[in-house]
Parts: sequence; structure tokens; C-alpha cells
Amino acid sequence: MLPLTFCLPLIKSLSNITSLSFQQNYLSSPLKFFTIQLPLRYNACSNHSEERSHLLASDIILETQDLFKTYFLGKDVQVPALRGVSVTVKRGAFTAIMGPSGSGKSTLMNIIGCLDQPTKGTITIEGIETSRMSRSDLAYVRNKKIGFVFQSFNLLARAHALSNVMLPFVYSDYPKAKRRERAMEVLESVGLADRWSHKPNELSGGQKQRVAIARALVNDPAIILADEPTGNIDSRSGLEIMILLQALNREGMTILCVTHDRFIAEHAEMIINLLDGKISRIEEVKERKDAREELQKLPKEEDIAQ
Ligand SMILES: Nc1ncnc2c1ncn2[C@@H]1O[C@H](COP(=O)(O)OP(=O)(O)OP(=O)(O)O)[C@@H](O)[C@H]1O
Ligand SMILES: [Mg+2]
Repeated sequence: MLPLTFCLPLIKSLSNITSLSFQQNYLSSPLKFFTIQLPLRYNACSNHSEERSHLLASDIILETQDLFKTYFLGKDVQVPALRGVSVTVKRGAFTAIMGPSGSGKSTLMNIIGCLDQPTKGTITIEGIETSRMSRSDLAYVRNKKIGFVFQSFNLLARAHALSNVMLPFVYSDYPKAKRRERAMEVLESVGLADRWSHKPNELSGGQKQRVAIARALVNDPAIILADEPTGNIDSRSGLEIMILLQALNREGMTILCVTHDRFIAEHAEMIINLLDGKISRIEEVKERKDAREELQKLPKEEDIAQ
């Protein structure tokens, strides 16, 4: 059983969830139409208007305070991966996290995503403090609140795309009769309805990542955490993933995206730079890139083939 103090805010926020759909036409992209189901609470911020920033100025979705994470290897070796990280993320923000290899980006994402616990410090997601939760409560919050996208896709090799997207339902109370329909809906939203029966080895890297994004969306998460989502795919497919993430963000989805690539990071609004487990700099992206425009600048596939 979950403690009532934990359940109340969750029930409150889940009660706001209803569906809203939109369509957007991307001329040069295979992701031609997105029909994305999001909680209604995002409706008020369907574009980056003044109204949205006014309405949600104080709406903090995620806060970490003085997070430390030390890994212990045997008795004597300690690896300090995070050394006092405090970040605040507003609902509807698109934030990138950059930093050299080993600077603690994945460690931070894993703690935010309830896959791991900090050694010290607190973390609050939609008002729920997760830093001291039991494993089972953490798994519950992860399933309800977090949509994870990984560099290596993490799809089940033997399951087709639809089964992969339905995987989060195994741990959820989503009505059984509606699961397949919902999974098809999100697959369609990432432009892959016609590939629902394909196994991962029958899909390109970009398509695999789009299946992973559909899986991340299927439970209507509060936040998408993407750890190097474009790291294992070519630049064209990478931009298609960024088109998708920017479209979700325009509809109000909060996105936190780790990347090594400055160009990819500039598709976000803010960049948090990590160095040796600490924040070295937080910068606003002055000239934010639009992934659709960037894709159009790439040479066309048929030109490259000639
Ligand atoms: N499970 C673990 N056990 C021990 N040390 C770990 C573990 N996971 C990460 N580390 C160490 O913690 C530090 C931060 O690792 P982390 O994976 O967070 O870095 P990163 O910024 O994501 O790097 P990359 O860009 O290479 O993915 C590194 O020194 C790493 O070796
Ligand atoms: Mg990493």
C-alpha cells in the first residue's frame, strides 16, 4: 500500500488528466501528422504566449536541492558523481543538460527519473518528494510521472513495436480494454502506425527511437527525460526526433534532454552545463533552433544518392 501523503497529490494531479488532440503538418518530414494525447492542464499553454508564461510562472514541476550521489566500489573506492546539484524546472520548459563524459549527466537523469536515489539532498516531482521513497513507491511514481527515452532505445528485441509501446501498462492501472487503442494512438502520433507489427531489428535507428518516444508517452507522463536521444542515429533522424520533442514541448510537455552535441542542445530553451558533478553554468539559448527548419537545410536524400 502507498502512504496517503504520497497518494493525495498524485490522485489530485491525475484527476486533471483528460485527452486533447492536435494535428500538425510537417511538409518535409515523414512524421507528417502528430496526434498527441496530453493532459488537459497543458491546454492553457498550447503555444509560447505571454498568457502561458503568466499562468504558469510559478508552476515548478521539478526541483532538486543540493543533490549528491557517491558510488561505492568495494570498501575503499568512492566515486563522487554528483556534488551538490540544485535545479528548478518549470512546467512546459525544454531544458538541455550538457557536459563532458563522466560529468554526472546520466546519474542526474537516473535520480530525477526515479531509477536511483541520491546519497544526499532532495528531489521533488510535482510536489512529491521522491528522495526518501521505497523502491516500490519510486517505481509507482516513475510509471505515472516519467517518460524515459534512452540513447540505446532499450526496446525489447523480440516484441513488435506495439507491444513495446504497451510495456508501461504492465505496471499501471490503465483500463485493459483501452490499452491497445491508446498504444496505437501514440504510435500514430510519432508517424509509425503502419509499422506497429515490426520488431526492432526491422526498424531504422530513428524509427526505433520514435517507438521509444511513443512508449514514453503512453502513460501521459508529467515530464520526458531523454538521455542522448540522438546519440545513436544519423543527423537527419536526429532532427526528426527533435521535431517530435519540440512538437510535444509546444503542446506543453516538459522536456529534459541530455546531449553531447551543442547543436542539439540549442533546440532547447535553457542549457544546464555540468562539470565534475556540479553545475558550472546555466544559459538561456539566445537563438533557439527550430528542428523543422534545420531539417530543411540538410541536403535532400536523393541529392546525396546522385
Ligand atoms: N554504477 C556506477 N558505479 C560506479 N561509478 C559510476 C556508476 N555510474 C556512473 N559512475 C561514475 O560516475 C561518474 C558520472 O557518470 P555518468 O554516467 O553520470 O556520466 P555522464 O555525464 O552521463 O557521462 P557520459 O557522457 O559518458 O554518458 C563517472 O565517473 C562514472 O564513472
Ligand atoms: Mg551518460
